[in-house]
Amino acid sequence: MKKEVETFYYLLHPRPVALICSVDEKERPNVMACSWITPVSEEPPMVSISLWKEGYTCQLIRRTREFTVNIPSAKLVKEVWIAGSKSGRKVDKFKLTGLKAVPAKKVKPPIIEQCIGHLECKLTNSVEAGECIIFIGEVLTAYAKEELLTKEMWNEKAEVLLHLGGRQFTTPRASFKV
Ligand SMILES: Cc1cc2nc3c(=O)[nH]c(=O)nc-3n(C[C@H](O)[C@H](O)[C@H](O)COP(=O)(O)O)c2cc1C
Repeated sequence: MKKEVETFYYLLHPRPVALICSVDEKERPNVMACSWITPVSEEPPMVSISLWKEGYTCQLIRRTREFTVNIPSAKLVKEVWIAGSKSGRKVDKFKLTGLKAVPAKKVKPPIIEQCIGHLECKLTNSVEAGECIIFIGEVLTAYAKEELLTKEMWNEKAEVLLHLGGRQFTTPRASFKV
């Protein structure tokens, strides 16, 4: 028997979690957790993120049109939870978590030093979707910790963090080849 579910999107999890960095006009940075993220084009390289309209990051990306995507390992789950449960409108989440903002190569928002991979993105367009805005960004550059990659794919040492929903997280158990 199949049970009807209330939270349809849990059926589309677990999903990789990213930490999205953005800046205000004075280049003050903010960070938020985001699991509604997906690549959408390879040529040119593009990624999309779906953000709640009332969130601070959504407001900042609308204004300054750049963001970075930072991939945390499971070791950063507590920091990810804080970045995903407090708003940068009220608190400095870098101070609160100890996450270290360091300059990116091509955009004003910083990257996060403790993360294992980074994408630097420039906003190309956005689409309204219910209570969210889908931001589509061109990926200007992407880089990751070399020792955690095998043929450019995350290997098991990377401990990529996956979000199941709510406060529940997991990590990939094993990789296999078809
Ligand atoms: C693991 C995790 C994933 C999340 N994914 C998203 C997401 O994809 N889109 C979104 O709008 N909010 C998401 N959130 C909630 C935001 O991170 C949260 O509303 C945050 O406080 C926004 O911060 P800001 O106001 O500083 O931008 C997520 C939270 C967690 C803990």
